[in-house]
Amino acid sequence: MIEQHSIVFPQGTVVVLQLQNPPVNSIGSAVRIALTEALDRAINNPDIQAIILTGSGKFFSAGADIREFNTPFAKQKPVLADIISQLENSPKPTVAALNGSALGGGLELTLGCHFRIALSGISMGLPEVKLGVLPGAGGTQRLPRLVGVEPALEMIASGEMIDTEQALKWGLVDKVVEADLLTEAGLLGLEAVANFQGAPALSRGAVSEVVAPDVFEAARKQASKRFRGCIAPLEAIACIEKSLVCDLDEGLEFERERFRLLVDGDQSKAQRHIFFAERAATKLPKITASSPEIESVGVVGAGTMGGGIAMSLANYGIPVIMLERDKAALDRGMQTIRSNYAASVKRRKLTDVDMDRRLALIQPSLRDADLANVDLVIEAAFEDMDVKKEIFARLDSICKPQAILASNTSRLDINELAETTSRPSQVIGTHFFSPANVMRLLEVVHGRHTADSVVAALFKLAKRIEKIPVLVGICDGFVGNRMVSPYTREAHFLLEEGASPAQVDGALRQFGMAMGPLQMGDMAGLDISWAARKRLAPTRPAHIRYSHVADRICEMDRFGQKTLAGFYRYEAGSRNPISDPAVDEIIESCARESGIERRVLTDIEIVQRTIYALVNEGARILQEGIAQRSSDIDVIYVSGYGFPVFRGGPMFYADTVGLAEVLATIEQFHKVHGELWTPAPLLQELAQNGGKFSDL
Ligand code: 3HC
Repeated sequence: MIEQHSIVFPQGTVVVLQLQNPPVNSIGSAVRIALTEALDRAINNPDIQAIILTGSGKFFSAGADIREFNTPFAKQKPVLADIISQLENSPKPTVAALNGSALGGGLELTLGCHFRIALSGISMGLPEVKLGVLPGAGGTQRLPRLVGVEPALEMIASGEMIDTEQALKWGLVDKVVEADLLTEAGLLGLEAVANFQGAPALSRGAVSEVVAPDVFEAARKQASKRFRGCIAPLEAIACIEKSLVCDLDEGLEFERERFRLLVDGDQSKAQRHIFFAERAATKLPKITASSPEIESVGVVGAGTMGGGIAMSLANYGIPVIMLERDKAALDRGMQTIRSNYAASVKRRKLTDVDMDRRLALIQPSLRDADLANVDLVIEAAFEDMDVKKEIFARLDSICKPQAILASNTSRLDINELAETTSRPSQVIGTHFFSPANVMRLLEVVHGRHTADSVVAALFKLAKRIEKIPVLVGICDGFVGNRMVSPYTREAHFLLEEGASPAQVDGALRQFGMAMGPLQMGDMAGLDISWAARKRLAPTRPAHIRYSHVADRICEMDRFGQKTLAGFYRYEAGSRNPISDPAVDEIIESCARESGIERRVLTDIEIVQRTIYALVNEGARILQEGIAQRSSDIDVIYVSGYGFPVFRGGPMFYADTVGLAEVLATIEQFHKVHGELWTPAPLLQELAQNGGKFSDL
C-alpha cells in the first residue's frame, strides 16, 4: 500500500512514501493505516531530514475510497484528517510530489504538506460535490487559506479540475517540473530544513482576506444553476464562508459536521450510486470475445443526428465519411457542423486549429462506394423501417465483409434490419441521444444475431469517444423510449383530469427533472410521436383509455418549438414556453368528450403518476432482460432523459422511497385508473419480500 525508499543527497537524506493502491490510489482504511505508520517511522528516524509523499501510475490519489462511505471502515482510525494533521505538524518538512492527478481527499492530503510540487500536465481538483458531498478532510478550510477565497470557491463549488499552469498561478503548487519530480521534491524539502520551525504552513486564524459582499451569493446562484436541486455545493460554499469568521479548528469541525450530514443523506447516496452505475454499465459480464478495431466510420444521413454522430467521432480523431443522397442536404449538414464548431471556437471551448483538424476528418460524400472500406457504418436516416431496410441492403452489398452495420434507430427492430443483410451477426443498434455530440448516453442494442465481439467493439469505441454505453435488448423503444411512453401517457391523462401543462411540467421540474414531459415533447417535435401513434392506432385496444390531447394539438399543425406552438406557444427565437389558452380549450374539450370530470390535482400526485409509471415499466424491462441491471436503467434516465442525479435514477428512487410504498400507490392507481397500472410482477415480488431493485 505504501512503498518506501530513501534518496541520499549531499545535503541530507529524504524518504519517499509512495501510495500504491491501483487503479487510482484511493485512500481507504488499509492505506490510511499503512501511511500513518510509515509517517511515524519517517518522523522518528534521525537519518531522514525531509519526507516526500507521492503516488504511482497516473494518479497521486483519486481521494477517499468512495466504497467505504457509510461503512464502519470510513470511521476507522486514523481518519484522513488525522494523517493530514500528522503531515502538517511534522517536525521535518513534508513535500507532496504530484506525479499524477490529485483529487478529493488526495488533494486534501497535499494541503497538509508544507510544500507541493507537480509534474507538468497533471490535474488537480476537489470533485466531491459531484458525489453529493464536500471536501471533508479540511479542503474547504485549507484551500481558501492557501489560494484565496475566490479560487477556492471556483474549485470546490464547481468540482472541476485545474491544470498545473492554473495551480501554479493560484499558488496551489509551489513549483511545476517537466521531469525528475522526486529529485526536485527532495531538494525542495532539504532546502527548507535549515530554517524549518516545525510549524504548519497555513494560518490557523480566520481567513483575513477582504471578500466582496456578493461573492458568496453569486457562487450560490451559479451552483444552483449548475447543480439544480443539489445541496452539496451550497453546503460547501457555506463551509468556505465560515473560514472567514472562525479559526481553522472551528472551521474544520463545522466542515466535518456538514460532511457527515451529506454523506448520510439520500442525495449523496444517489449520486454515488450513479457514479458506480455508470462504471458498471460499461462492463459486459457475458462478453469476453476479442473485438475488431474501429478506425474509420461511415455515417449515413447528414441530418441533426448524422451530423452530431459525425462530430462525436471526429472530436476524438476518428475519420468519418458522411453520406447523403442529396447534395443540398449534404451541404446543409456540413454547414451545420461548421457552425457548431465555430460556436465552440467563439465560446473559447475549441481552438481554430482543433476546429480545422476535426472538420478535415469529416469527409462529405454522395457516393455509396466511398463506404467500401470503413470499419463501421452508422445509419442515421429517416425513422422508417422500409427506408432503413433499403439502406441496410445497399450497405451490405457495398461494405467490406468484416464491416459492422449499425442503426441509430430509437425504436425499430434491429433483427428485421439484420435480416436484410448477409451478415446479421455484424448488425447492431447504436442509439445516440440528441444532440449526439453533447449527450454522453449511447444505448447499444443487441440484436438476436449480433456477435459478442461486435458488441465489445462498440463498447470500446464508446469509451474512446467518451460516451456511456449501456447494453439493451430489443423491444419497441428499447429501454429509454419504451419507458417514456407510459410517462408521457400519464402526463397527458393528468391534463385531462385537471392539470395545466405548466402545472405538470412545474411539478416535475420541482422534483428535479431537467424539463417537464410536455416541454420535452415540444422540444423533440410532436409530429414524430404523432406518426408513431397513428401507426399503432389500428391495433390499439378500444377499451384502454387513450388521450386525444396530443393528437388534437398536432392536427392544428402545432408540432412544438419548431412551429412556435405545441403544448405551449413560443416567441420567435425563444425557447421559453408560454401557456396558451388554445391548448387549455383542447384539453377541456378532450376531457368533456371522454366524460372526465376535471379536479384539482396535487403536485405529489403528478410526480407519483409519472415517475411511478417509469418505475413500473422499468421493472418489466428488467424482468424481460431488456436491461441487464436496474442500475443501467438509472444511468439511461440520468444521462439521457434529465432525471435528477441526486435521486439516482427512477429505480434507485423507488428503492429510496421503499418498494412496498411504491407498490401500494401503484395498486391504488390500478384500482382507480385500470389495467394500464397493472403492477409489474417483479415489483410485486421484491416489495413482498422486502427487496430492492439494487439487490438484483
Ligand atoms: N474510491 C473508490 N474507487 C474509485 C475512486 C475512489 N475515489 N475513484 C475511482 N474509483 C474506481 C472506479 O470505481 C473504477 O472501479 P472499477 O474498475 O471497479 O469500475 C476504477 O477506480 C477506475 O475508475 P474509472 O473507470 O473512473 O477510471 P478513469 O481513469 O476513467 O477515471 C477518475 C479516474 C478520474 C479518478 C474517476 O474514477 C473519478 O472521478 N473518481 C472519483 C474521484 C473523486 O470524486 N474523488 C473524491 C472522493 S470523495 C473524497 O475524497 C472525500 C474527502 O473529501 C474526505
